[in-house]
Amino acid sequence: MSRKQQYLFLNFGLAISILLFINVLYFSTNNWDVRRIFYPQDSVRLISTSKLPVNLTKGIKRILFWTEYFGHEDFPSLELGPTGVDVQRQFCDYGCEFTTNKELISSSDALIFHGRDLKTESFEVRESSLVRPNHIPTERNASQYWIFYLLESPVNTFVPLEAFNNFFNLTMTYRTDSDIYVPYQRLVKITETELQNETPNRKLLQKKSKMVAWIVSNCETQSKRELLVKELKKYIQVDVYGSCGENSCSSHGRDNGLACYEEIGKSYKFYLSFENTLCTDYVTEKFFNALATGMVPIVYGGANYSQHAPKGSYIDARSFSSMKELASYLLNLDKYDKLYLKYFQWKKHFRVENVTVLQRSWCRLCRALSTGEVPLVRTVSNLKSWWMRYRNSTVCTTPDLPETLELL
Ligand SMILES: *[C@@H]1O[C@H](CO)[C@@H](O)[C@H](O)[C@H]1NC(C)=O
Ligand SMILES: *[C@@H]1O[C@H](CO)[C@@H](O)[C@H](O)[C@H]1NC(C)=O
Ligand SMILES: *[C@@H]1O[C@H](CO)[C@@H](O)[C@H](O)[C@H]1NC(C)=O
Ligand SMILES: *[C@@H]1O[C@H](CO)[C@@H](O)[C@H](O)[C@H]1NC(C)=O
Ligand SMILES: *[C@@H]1O[C@H](CO)[C@@H](O)[C@H](O)[C@H]1NC(C)=O
Ligand SMILES: *[C@@H]1O[C@H](CO)[C@@H](O)[C@H](O)[C@H]1NC(C)=O
Repeated sequence: MSRKQQYLFLNFGLAISILLFINVLYFSTNNWDVRRIFYPQDSVRLISTSKLPVNLTKGIKRILFWTEYFGHEDFPSLELGPTGVDVQRQFCDYGCEFTTNKELISSSDALIFHGRDLKTESFEVRESSLVRPNHIPTERNASQYWIFYLLESPVNTFVPLEAFNNFFNLTMTYRTDSDIYVPYQRLVKITETELQNETPNRKLLQKKSKMVAWIVSNCETQSKRELLVKELKKYIQVDVYGSCGENSCSSHGRDNGLACYEEIGKSYKFYLSFENTLCTDYVTEKFFNALATGMVPIVYGGANYSQHAPKGSYIDARSFSSMKELASYLLNLDKYDKLYLKYFQWKKHFRVENVTVLQRSWCRLCRALSTGEVPLVRTVSNLKSWWMRYRNSTVCTTPDLPETLELL
């Protein structure tokens, strides 16, 4: 290389370097507040990689509530009874120990993360440095189950679930294809003695002087149920209870608690069990509470209701071509007691199980861990696509309600 060549080469190199530097400077300043998602599992150190099967018959299972529950720190004491340590035997055949004490992590069989309390802002990168989510454990035991627990629908999840791929071992939701399936409620077969006091008869009708009730506190929803009710009101009396309506329950406690259903169940014939989102398997206490308190539920949702209760125990709003048609069907049932009472035939065989969804959750989890119902080793590889899609289609649908409000 001649001196001149060397000189040119150096200059060239220098020019490239300056260009690169400007480039880096440009992009780094330009992307200064770009927020990348931080993948929490990348920072969790795996300890004890031995996958030796735990002896499942040995010892009582310890379950650690790692996150809060809608901001409540006392997650396990919610409906676990006064001690807050083990599932009450009165509603569960299995006993487990529940705790929020994070120091017990290494001796816990499972960790529960409530989906809505996974704090999203801490997964972002700010000013080029990783912000470590403070609520993610730093180590994980390969034989411990990390559980994604959620009873809300995908529309109301509000968490970037893509950050949690390969993070959880088990899903625990109201979706029937969860590893641990937790329905809000369920019907159970009744015994002979229970049958005696449950025969549907005209006595039930004595105080039922009103038509349709609806308890609601979420006034504008993705399912657009509020528009349907507005339309229905043109043809039939609908009394709205709760913060979106003009009526309120006199019973103590929350307006949407069972006590309120019991109160209105005495005087109303029908109840609008309209879900806030139309999602696969999403059927909530709105449906079961109506069944439990002597009203005929009028359902509107994305679940297959015949999998939850016998046909003929409810009326599906989506099987009518308009709200006008639904109203005239209801008015006809009001006129003919015999037709109305047919909707209570199911009571000869079933009752709504008297256990809350949280009690059921902990019992099912305890049973799954105690009996080894769940896979020994599993990782939920794509949480988001599982949660948002079901059998290749989206889990939730948006109703396409035209101005005329015709149903499907
Ligand atoms: C598990 O523990 C039970 C009770 O201690 C014992 O009887 C059983 O043999 C153990 N099973 C295995 C596979 O170690
Ligand atoms: C991992 O979990 C198993 C089963 O819960 C437990 O026996 C073991 O001590 C744990 N190991 C560590 C290092 O925490
Ligand atoms: C609803 O569930 C019933 C009972 O499992 C089944 O026969 C029916 O095909 C399902 N309907 C739909 C639309 O999936
Ligand atoms: C249902 O639960 C309530 C409150 O815990 C209780 O008072 C009642 O006896 C229960 N009924 C049945 C049938 O278990
Ligand atoms: C849970 O998933 C993690 C991450 O893939 C894995 O290391 C661990 O062994 C799994 N645990 C169980 C009990 O399946
Ligand atoms: C989903 O789509 C994939 C690719 O088109 C197909 O192979 C698979 O069988 C589908 N699954 C279901 C349950 O329809």
